[in-house]
Amino acid sequence: MQRITTPELAKAFIDEQLGELKQQIGDKKVLLALSGGVDSSVVAALLIKAIGKNLVCVHVNHGLLRKGEPEQVIEVFRNQMDANLVYVDAVDRFLGKLSGVDDPEKKRKIIGAEFIRVFEEEARKQDGIKFLAQGTIYPDILESDGVKAHHNVGGLPDDLQFELVEPLKLLFKDEVRVVGKQLGLPDNMVYRQPFPGPGLGVRCLGAITRDRLEAVRESDAILREEFAKNGLEGKVWQYFTVVPDFRSVGVKNGKRTFAYPVIIRAVNTKDAMTATVEDIPFTLLQHITQRITAEVENVNRVLYDLTPKPCGTIEWE
Ligand code: XMP
Repeated sequence: MQRITTPELAKAFIDEQLGELKQQIGDKKVLLALSGGVDSSVVAALLIKAIGKNLVCVHVNHGLLRKGEPEQVIEVFRNQMDANLVYVDAVDRFLGKLSGVDDPEKKRKIIGAEFIRVFEEEARKQDGIKFLAQGTIYPDILESDGVKAHHNVGGLPDDLQFELVEPLKLLFKDEVRVVGKQLGLPDNMVYRQPFPGPGLGVRCLGAITRDRLEAVRESDAILREEFAKNGLEGKVWQYFTVVPDFRSVGVKNGKRTFAYPVIIRAVNTKDAMTATVEDIPFTLLQHITQRITAEVENVNRVLYDLTPKPCGTIEWE
């Protein structure tokens, strides 16, 4: 099969898919969990073109998304593409379930299971759903016992089994991006770095607290802004901040502080199985440190993680 590398090839793929999707779905309804990540966003944009309001997108805000993400999903899909979008504010519910849980695998399981539960509740509120759309891409099928396997926490219950619609299942990530661009999705949605399903939950180490979660979210936003300004967006494979669950002593405006550190991680990899650390210019690190310590509440130190994978994993949990 020819790889989709140009806008013309993307257009041909889209035209072909629109025909097939219309034929497969007819006038029935399709449900999609729309996270705002590349794959689900491209599936949404395709299906909006194919079946309009018969696509029901459900965006679950679990409180662990990056700064501005839920707002962008609403802006792009509801306001610009006129999609049928159900926005679920489940922040308190997720943070309640996670309260006091410090084991990384337990946190992942709670986030995954709660996500399915919220999605199931929304699915039950909808009448006449016949299909479930998914952003499965080719590597998900190839690597079904690879990197993503331990993320699988099960699916919807038996009485909610829908026929699957997986229009991207033969595409690689770079092809999905070309298609997304052709469908008119914004660059920062199409070219975004990988983001784990449990989101900032695995970057707010130990038992999640709201103050540290906000520190992760705000410091991540500053890091992303500075990487974009300095030409590192799209060059570095994955970059983010982590906030551990201990504090250290510092001093600000002549007063003693006792606050959290922020750890910066920026890595390059081909397949996420091994990774090297990005050689960020020292002056940029100093500038980001200055901004984070000045702008983010409850933070008084910034560290740069120099550990490749192995022996560190990319995420800290
Ligand atoms: P690690 O930390 O294992 O991460 O070196 C490898 C890649 O996988 C991502 N990752 C996850 N993605 N759910 C996901 O969807 C998860 O639970 C999860 N844990 C890690 C990580 O961000 C990196 O890109």
